[in-house]
Amino acid sequence: MNSNHTWPNAPEPLWKVENSLEAHPPLREDMSTDVVIVGGGITGITAGYLLANEGKKVIIIESDRLLNGTTGHTSAKITAQHDLIYDEFLNHFGQEKAKLYYEANNDALQFIKQTVDTLSISCSYSEEDAYLYASTEEYARKLSNEMRAYQKLGIQGEFMNSIPIDVSVKAAISMKNQGQFDPIAYLAPLIQNFKEKGGQVFEQTVAIDVEKGSNPVIITKTGAKITCETIIASTHFPFYDGNALYFSRMYAERSYVLAAKTKKAYPGGMYLSAENPKRSLRSHTLGGEKLVLFGGESHKTGQGHRMSDHYQALKFFGEETFGLTEVLYRWSAQDLFTLDKLPYIGPVTKSEPNILIATGFHKWGMTNGTAAALLFRDYILEKTNPYLDLFTPSRFYADPSIKTFLVQNADVAGQFVKGKLSFPTKQVSDLNIDEAAVVRVNGKKAGAYKDKHGKLHVVDTTCTHLHCEVAWNDDDRTWDCPCHGSRFNIDGQVVEGPAEKPLIDLTGELE
Ligand code: FES
Repeated sequence: MNSNHTWPNAPEPLWKVENSLEAHPPLREDMSTDVVIVGGGITGITAGYLLANEGKKVIIIESDRLLNGTTGHTSAKITAQHDLIYDEFLNHFGQEKAKLYYEANNDALQFIKQTVDTLSISCSYSEEDAYLYASTEEYARKLSNEMRAYQKLGIQGEFMNSIPIDVSVKAAISMKNQGQFDPIAYLAPLIQNFKEKGGQVFEQTVAIDVEKGSNPVIITKTGAKITCETIIASTHFPFYDGNALYFSRMYAERSYVLAAKTKKAYPGGMYLSAENPKRSLRSHTLGGEKLVLFGGESHKTGQGHRMSDHYQALKFFGEETFGLTEVLYRWSAQDLFTLDKLPYIGPVTKSEPNILIATGFHKWGMTNGTAAALLFRDYILEKTNPYLDLFTPSRFYADPSIKTFLVQNADVAGQFVKGKLSFPTKQVSDLNIDEAAVVRVNGKKAGAYKDKHGKLHVVDTTCTHLHCEVAWNDDDRTWDCPCHGSRFNIDGQVVEGPAEKPLIDLTGELE
């Protein structure tokens, strides 16, 4: 491997470097509206755009800045080819549901394409063929089954024995005319259009609870409330789950992306390995120069190796396939997985038809998130939507949910015990600059981080969700929970749920 590359110091998605978004004020007073959307990613912004264009009064609130979550950290492939999924869906849910899943995602792809045209959006949208490839006989057989599923479901796909990039392949399936884009450049004009149609955006506004009823009320951290007819929670993990225990039905994974200049020319197309560890490729042109995005290395949140190992593995893959001249950007993203692999889109519970959630898009949030927004528009306007039953969060399909539920919750129990049995090996005085460790403070296990100025930030490592022990993420400098994926910053503030409360700050106990 060439060691002369510049290695970006801090994780930063390419999309954020290319785009700057206008800031919005926090919510300071009580308001009322038709629809409140909590969460400013692709689902929330697209739903806001659609509903405002139908004459609805809509407010979007976001706990951080718009597009700072998974949407801003995706690799932004827009495709209905979602890994090996259709054979599995055909077997578990039958032909009708498997086909509907494809159609929902294909409709979303077509909607994005059409919106780019209608609003003349300059977001590097390009039509690309998607390839799913297998490098082993075992996965080549799985691809054969997947191809048979495509044929049964009427999905256009081509089975092949080689692909345009230089990786060893036993078999592959291509899906033609899919897409890729810069997600922030795509969504920025939608935000603009939303505001021109009367939509309002409040950032740094944290929703903490809901008062249920025919006119539900969102309560924010500062006490300001919004009364509305319908709430859409598009916060990745639902900030309000109506006691439906979504955390026990989902799990979180992190994955990584590098954007690099390469020696070999990129032939076009978007690629994904069927085997693990996953390898994902696409290109993006920046300042007239083509970069290749190498993605993969997924692991459950809080259960990975050192972050640098994951990036190194991708760098090695980049070297092998294209030869790297410079790695310009690196970043990671968090994705949520449901137990049956279908997203949860619709009313949070059967008894709360006016509180809608959208989550569990796996790694396919560009199309699933857009499909959710289209569904919410139809639902609120009381129009028929063909995908309402498919995605309903209150579904229960025994197969494969029960088995996966047991496996997931056994993993959570294992992580809980493992965390409690692990003992601190370092002391605060051992810490170097920009280093963290689990230490003991006044007999309690604590996570200590020494920042670049030598200041210590010490938190109780007990996750405030269900008390697992958080682990240090040395790339994003967060404390990540291995049980349900909550994440906290160095001072314990919640970055990602299901936890709602911050970690206890123990910095004062050091003195
Ligand atoms: Fe559930 Fe931490 S996220 S215990």
